[in-house]
Amino acid sequence: MKSTHLRYEEDAGAYRTEPTLFVNGKRLPSSLSSRARPNQTLLDFLRVECKLTGSKLGCGEGGCGACTVLVSRLSGKGRVVHVAVNACLFPVLAADGCHVTTIEGIGSFKHDGSTLQSNFDRNGEAKEDYLHPIQRVMIDFHGSQCGYCTPGIIMALYGLFADNEPNAKHLEEHLDGNLCRCTGYRPIWDAARSLCGDVEETVGPCGTPCRQCPEREDCTMDCNVKDKAVCSSTASKVNAYQTVLREKHSDDWWKQPTAMFPTELLDEGLQNQLTKPLKVCDDSIHNGGTWYQPTSLLDLLSLIETHNEAGVKLVVGNTEVGIETKFKHAIYSTMIHPSRSIPGLYDVSTPDDFLVIGSCASLSSLQSTCHQLMSDESEARKAKTARPIHDMLRWFASTQIRNVACIGGNLVTASPISDMNPMLASMRGVLTLAKHDRGEVARRQINVSDFFTGYRSVAMHTNEIIECVSVPLLRDRFEYVSPFKQARRREDDISIVTAGMRLSVTVSCGNKWSIDSISLAFGGVAPTTILAQETMAYLTGREFSEASFDGARRVLQDELRMPDDVPGGQPQYRLTLASSFLYKFFLYCAGELVKDVGDSPGKYPPLPVVEDEASSGAAGFISAAKPSITGTQTYPEPKVAAGLESEKYGDVIRSKPMAAVAAKGQSKEDLVGKPATHASGPLHCTGEALYADDIPSSDSLLHGSLILATQCHSTLESIDVSPALQIPGVAGAFTHEDIIKLGGDNRMGPILLDDVAFLQVGEQVGFVGQVLGIVVADSQEIAEKGARAVSTTYSELDGNAIVSIEDAILANSFWTDFRHTIQRGDVDDALKQSEVDGKKLVVVEGSFRSGGQEHFYLEPNSTLAVPSESATNLTIYASTQAPTKTQDFVARVTNTPAARVVVRMKRMGGGFGGKETRSVFSSVACAVAAKLTNRPCRLTMNRDTDMATTGGRHAFLAKYKAGALVADDGSVKLHAFSVQLFNNGGCKFDLTGPVLDRALFHVDNCYMWPNFRAVGTPCRTSQPPHTAFRGFGGPQGMAVTEHVMDHLAQACNVSGDQLRRTNMYTLQDCTPFGMRFGGKFTGKWNVPSMFDRLYSDLDIPGRRAAASEFNKKTNVHLYTDGTVLVSHGGTEMGQGLHTKVCQVAAQAFGIPLDDVYVNDSSTDKVANTIPSAASMSTDLYGMATLDACQKILKRIKVIRESLPADAPLKDVAKKAFFDRIDLTAHGFFAGKLGRTAFTEIGSFLTYICSTEVDDDRCGFDWAMEKPEDFDDTQPENSWKGHPFNYFTQGVAFAEVEIDVLTGNHKTIRADVLVDVGSSINPAIDIGQIEGAYIQGVGWCTTEEVVYADSDHTWIRPRARVFTTGPGTYKIPAFNDVPETFNVSLLEDASNPFAVHSSKAVGEPPFFLGTSVFYAIKDAVKAARTSDDYFEFRMPATSERIRMACGDYISEECIAAGKASSFQPKGSY
Ligand SMILES: Cc1cc2nc3c(=O)[nH]c(=O)nc-3n(C[C@H](O)[C@H](O)[C@H](O)COP(=O)(O)OP(=O)(O)OC[C@H]3O[C@@H](n4cnc5c(N)ncnc54)[C@H](O)[C@@H]3O)c2cc1C
Ligand code: FES
Ligand code: FES
Repeated sequence: MKSTHLRYEEDAGAYRTEPTLFVNGKRLPSSLSSRARPNQTLLDFLRVECKLTGSKLGCGEGGCGACTVLVSRLSGKGRVVHVAVNACLFPVLAADGCHVTTIEGIGSFKHDGSTLQSNFDRNGEAKEDYLHPIQRVMIDFHGSQCGYCTPGIIMALYGLFADNEPNAKHLEEHLDGNLCRCTGYRPIWDAARSLCGDVEETVGPCGTPCRQCPEREDCTMDCNVKDKAVCSSTASKVNAYQTVLREKHSDDWWKQPTAMFPTELLDEGLQNQLTKPLKVCDDSIHNGGTWYQPTSLLDLLSLIETHNEAGVKLVVGNTEVGIETKFKHAIYSTMIHPSRSIPGLYDVSTPDDFLVIGSCASLSSLQSTCHQLMSDESEARKAKTARPIHDMLRWFASTQIRNVACIGGNLVTASPISDMNPMLASMRGVLTLAKHDRGEVARRQINVSDFFTGYRSVAMHTNEIIECVSVPLLRDRFEYVSPFKQARRREDDISIVTAGMRLSVTVSCGNKWSIDSISLAFGGVAPTTILAQETMAYLTGREFSEASFDGARRVLQDELRMPDDVPGGQPQYRLTLASSFLYKFFLYCAGELVKDVGDSPGKYPPLPVVEDEASSGAAGFISAAKPSITGTQTYPEPKVAAGLESEKYGDVIRSKPMAAVAAKGQSKEDLVGKPATHASGPLHCTGEALYADDIPSSDSLLHGSLILATQCHSTLESIDVSPALQIPGVAGAFTHEDIIKLGGDNRMGPILLDDVAFLQVGEQVGFVGQVLGIVVADSQEIAEKGARAVSTTYSELDGNAIVSIEDAILANSFWTDFRHTIQRGDVDDALKQSEVDGKKLVVVEGSFRSGGQEHFYLEPNSTLAVPSESATNLTIYASTQAPTKTQDFVARVTNTPAARVVVRMKRMGGGFGGKETRSVFSSVACAVAAKLTNRPCRLTMNRDTDMATTGGRHAFLAKYKAGALVADDGSVKLHAFSVQLFNNGGCKFDLTGPVLDRALFHVDNCYMWPNFRAVGTPCRTSQPPHTAFRGFGGPQGMAVTEHVMDHLAQACNVSGDQLRRTNMYTLQDCTPFGMRFGGKFTGKWNVPSMFDRLYSDLDIPGRRAAASEFNKKTNVHLYTDGTVLVSHGGTEMGQGLHTKVCQVAAQAFGIPLDDVYVNDSSTDKVANTIPSAASMSTDLYGMATLDACQKILKRIKVIRESLPADAPLKDVAKKAFFDRIDLTAHGFFAGKLGRTAFTEIGSFLTYICSTEVDDDRCGFDWAMEKPEDFDDTQPENSWKGHPFNYFTQGVAFAEVEIDVLTGNHKTIRADVLVDVGSSINPAIDIGQIEGAYIQGVGWCTTEEVVYADSDHTWIRPRARVFTTGPGTYKIPAFNDVPETFNVSLLEDASNPFAVHSSKAVGEPPFFLGTSVFYAIKDAVKAARTSDDYFEFRMPATSERIRMACGDYISEECIAAGKASSFQPKGSY
């Protein structure tokens, strides 16, 4: 049929030239919508043009969810449909005719008319607040810490509940597109579940809801174990909250997304206009090409043909094209986005015997159609065909991605690790391709299996598109399909290996089950999706039996074997996975066959025999249910405890004089000790919290992009910025020469001035990504284009770049001046003996490696530098943990007096140590540009730049020799430990030395080693400078000890639990660096008793048996209205510091918490601050706040006494003001750094951690010689000082399940008990513990930093970091939280050495996360066929787990004879 279609180039009036955009209920004026550009993301448009900064940029690649918004449109069926999308990938022009809701639109902390909320509820009563229930619960459940992820998570939930009744199952299936680096997810889970109607009241076998049962205490039912989910406080809290929420909020909230859909968009007239095609040309300086949105297939095909030669791109979900344009800098002059009104393209249907999927149908619509088909029992074949597709889609990307991405995009991208392509190939899918041919649509068909012709190439002409995919329905019996996927992380991760397998069996004449047809399609084992033809041929016609599949496995291994340097690496693991999948498929089909044969086995041949033990192997994570998370959080009754302040202020605190100040209308409540919600919670949850990138600036604002070195191990020969300066919109490009012109000092570094702001020509490049300069321009996009245009040349040095610790050892590349030793006794002599006091000495020797870790704070480094008074003054708004350090280096490098540089920091979207020193470099670069252009400049790093340049946690290598004495009765005592620690410092010193020192202080962990020597050698390599990270070397040190304890336990033939418990420090002991546990250290030593408590409460021996069967100065201002403003030197990065400081001040004055406000951290208010790090901020700023409060209270004492006893604070303050009393006080408290030490019992961990205070309690001088008058009854090394103030202590237990065939793992349960002293805010402390724990779990499991080193020669250039975004670097996701996660704070804990008897909490529990690592190691040990000692390296990736399990399958996949020494490759 000939059709009259638009001739776009000729018929100028035929299309609209401006999109119709609605945001938060309002239609955007033409002045705004006309600014939407073809290659612009919705996020950029919302933030830059609409000034809606609530949606955040966390990664720009769809991997973190911080940018999530809701897009709603009217479907063809007249229904409003809502989808949550990643605004960082969603093209703004694709929102034409849609309504976009952002976090600002759904509720507001203070009603200012900017949201859609009315001031009144439906009964006409004034509303208490304007928060949507989702926002409300996130605040009340402590779901936000730094708050950067919060708007995205709220919008994801909003999207989920917009189209679905809030229900827990939906949560578990769909909360997969958002990451949070702070909370550990548990409070977010609780908040979300409290919104769901179906969080069931669990009923015990007796029929009574457990939590309501009056006899629960006495109940002897199995289910009534307090630590069981049914009785969990999480469940009851969630249930109780639901009731409150329901009463307070009407169901109208849930109708909000549809209710606020603009009525204009429902109007037929507008809808008719929208049926016109759209054409938008970018004539701005961005030159972003032309966007077409055709409304018929023929027009679409015609456009493709017309623009084919000049470069045209079909764009549907943009999840692939968006990555190509942003990260690979692809430029398309024409982009074509098919209108949803094109018949067939977006539909999924089941005509005849086929499932037909429109090529542009979103994956979520496909998933939901499959779900419907699966539930229709009357259509068995459709249900059967739909299931594997549905199951694979559950683990495909994230909800936000699936909501927009289409099947055509997945096919045409032809990624070798596509998940759908192997599935469709194995299911014998057929593609219909369409093109324009002389005014008509011409079609042809091709099998999916024939479509992939090579690496990312397909058998499709450039003028063709895929119209649809047709999948034949499966037979109702005896035909089976199963999807397989193994990824680094279960949720939102691309596959390492993926497969789709189909098999049909028939009864052969020998009365056997034989395979009549089989398709085995794989991804991740070749440059493209492939069918394993040889293996298929081998199996076809053979008997369906384990023996046939055994033979087939060997054929498959020959067919798929990969070279050692295969791109992507992991050849042995990938082959093992493919082989294991095949075995799993056999097990799956065998199980299904049993079901099909059903009750009439006699009618059929005998079924293949499968051992019971093996049958569980059929399961994999694809078919696994996404578990709900449950658990308890318990803490002692809140109390105001007196700590260090009682030493300073005597009884004043204890006798609570401030309660007397509290009078009518004021808080009579104690605030210290209460689980108050995060002070910024409401602002986080409404998107009103401002981060550095959100701070409004003037129209003259310039955006910066760094010029980075593209190779290292070379000399920078030249930099030519002229190509950048020629780009319209570029305002400047600055290098080292410009710093010289400014008269600035280029040198930088926190300890050694061995680093530079901008590398100078002629100098050696330290690392790939080193900063060479900065380009500033009118937009971010142009600045980036400018930075890429800068031309640089290098001359390569001889030899290879030193990348790993092993490279550094070979090349002697160390900072030798910083090599430190802690020594007690004579280790060498002790290890030479064979027997001591009749006990046999058992000696072990080996090595242990732990990997690096990326901070992955959700907010990338960001700085706004504002010059004033002809750029003689600079105000820097920076996301930094170190305002003073930033001020210092900005002043030095820009040659500006420090007094003229003010650094301000309101909040950070996470820091974790990563913004202590490394943030300063980006702030300095931005300041240089601001000073030289005399215009405000903003530099917000892209995630990949941030990850490539800022360094992370240090990787460690330990070489050790250790001995223990075994007595005749089998008891074992540690005797001697000699260990050499090496850490990979990267190319500059930064904090490498102190981090290594900390590891030395922790490598004893909690164990008494009578003879001990630890030597630390910092290694210089070509990696970016590594820096502080939660725990600061402590975790790395302790991880070594735990490895050694395992080694010794095995060698001495005792249980790890026993070895650890019997060798823990006692009060009589002291550490190798001379610190006693009794004596001067008067804190409680709780580790042994905490250990015993968890050990018996959790019945560890019983569980083991069961398993074997299967983070200084402060100003306080009192205002005459009785409110208090606190400014302190600490920085808020989510750790709740401001909240705790408010609690301390409110408690001191006896006023409500809301009357205390913490201002920005600013160098003009508090000078010479120290960074917020080492978990000591509350210790420091809490005490300093109290000091300032006490000064004011002392001054107003007379006034207060002259007024009636119940006079409110504001009256006291007013009178004091008129009496000319200074109501501002400056508090001061000094302190130093801390220690963390731990012990681990297999999967069971304990640790101790401390912060340092007074000089006599917190100094350690490495070089100090033993004084002649040293009292030899004092511990060895104690003349060097007393490094730590107190110990934060804790124990943890973890239980995991591993899949021995794939290496997949999940944490079934974790129990954590921590002594945080007397908590100032238990909710915040528990939040810190959970967040640290999950970060620790990430470090030791899924988070693997990979460099182009000798183990990864497929990455170029050498020394480049490969893991530069959420796509390649996997922090834990929602689904990685332990299924049962119990966290308790120790009762009766006190600490006389810190404010209100509290303790540092931010860092210590990090190490407890490694309980998961040791549990995995135990599980691997149990699965191994050999009892030999093995070095199980960190992190325990799925590859290390699988390969360490070491069965015949993995052995076949490793080169002959190498299986026993095989170690998966890693970057250390
Ligand atoms: C965070 C993230 C996670 C991901 N996770 C996974 C995963 O787990 N598994 C996986 O397999 N993939 C994954 N992907 C890849 C991606 O989601 C898929 O490839 C997706 O299906 C692409 O669809 P799209 O509509 O976004 O394509 P687009 O980006 O719009 O287009 C991609 C390509 O396909 C072409 N194209 C699109 N539709 C058609 C058509 N009908 N006919 C002809 N050409 C067409 C385009 O011209 C372009 O060349 C992920 C991507 C991201 C960003
Ligand atoms: S910023 Fe969009 S997903 Fe991360
Ligand atoms: S609160 Fe989630 S990233 Fe900080």
